[in-house]
Amino acid sequence: MKNRTLFQGDNLRFLRALPSDSIQLIATDPPFNKRRDFFAAENGAGFRDRWSWERDVAAEGVDILRAAHPALWAVIEAARLGQGEGMSAYLGWLGLRLLEMHRVLHPTGSLFLHIDRSAGAYVKLLLDAIFGPERCRNEIVWLYKTGGASKRWFSRKHDIILFYSKTDAYTFHPQREKSYLAHRYGFSNIEVEQDADGYYRLAAMRDVWDIPALRGNQAEAVGYPTQKPLALYERIIRAASNPGDLVLDPFCGSGTTAVAAERLGRRWLVMDIWDGAFAMLRQRLEAQRLDVNVRLLRDAPAG
Ligand SMILES: C[S@@+](CC[C@H](N)C(=O)[O-])C[C@H]1O[C@@H](n2cnc3c(N)ncnc32)[C@H](O)[C@@H]1O
Repeated sequence: MKNRTLFQGDNLRFLRALPSDSIQLIATDPPFNKRRDFFAAENGAGFRDRWSWERDVAAEGVDILRAAHPALWAVIEAARLGQGEGMSAYLGWLGLRLLEMHRVLHPTGSLFLHIDRSAGAYVKLLLDAIFGPERCRNEIVWLYKTGGASKRWFSRKHDIILFYSKTDAYTFHPQREKSYLAHRYGFSNIEVEQDADGYYRLAAMRDVWDIPALRGNQAEAVGYPTQKPLALYERIIRAASNPGDLVLDPFCGSGTTAVAAERLGRRWLVMDIWDGAFAMLRQRLEAQRLDVNVRLLRDAPAG
């Protein structure tokens, strides 16, 4: 539970070792079940995103999932009938970890889970089973502009971030965003400012977030496939935690959540199965001139 720790290995083992009710915010971006592997030729970074029951869940996991909540197992069975073994194994694998994430959250805590259309609808049902559907506070759309377009459907340019609180007494700080006006007149009761794009006022932030995706030539980009922008994770951390709170990312990849948490004065624990995660995270913290020590804990070899 020491601040600034990276656990390298399968996050299920580490999640199980964390005390209940101990984490204020989980902001995480697991594999999405894209049925392919992600790999960066230049630095060997990457991960597998295809799933099987035998390899990824095993008999013990099946027993836990069946016993947890009837609705959880029903969602997994529905996915098996509708989509096949790969999707149901993915949901079984993720479901085991989501059960632990729910357990470790503090009563005032929240989970922000990044997902996309590949499995998002099923993952929403898993979370409804674990947290309760009334605890789903937002289905946030992260809207981005990247290259690539199709002539056969509308360009697919959003991800989904599901926001669940553990209880009804959760930490939430409303955020504000610029809302542009066609003209500045007739708003005598509110403050109107001007910038290069025109007149605006600050309005309550909505659940569609237009934040540019990372381009390879940006200073922040480290060449990790699926690396997410700091701005996205900073927004989540500001809204759902206070300075000094403990933030967890069990699928940290290049360490975006840790860097964002450090910049905002939060404590953090992160996990990844990739053996390059520690070096990459240290490199990113240094690049931000954040002169801090990161503790590395490795999983004990099996058996
Ligand atoms: C979508 S990426 C996260 C990218 C991250 N948000 C970033 O900005 O760099 C998902 C990560 O989950 C990790 N992962 C997959 N299975 C895991 C497991 N069982 N335990 C821990 N990490 C795992 C992968 O190695 C990969 O880095």
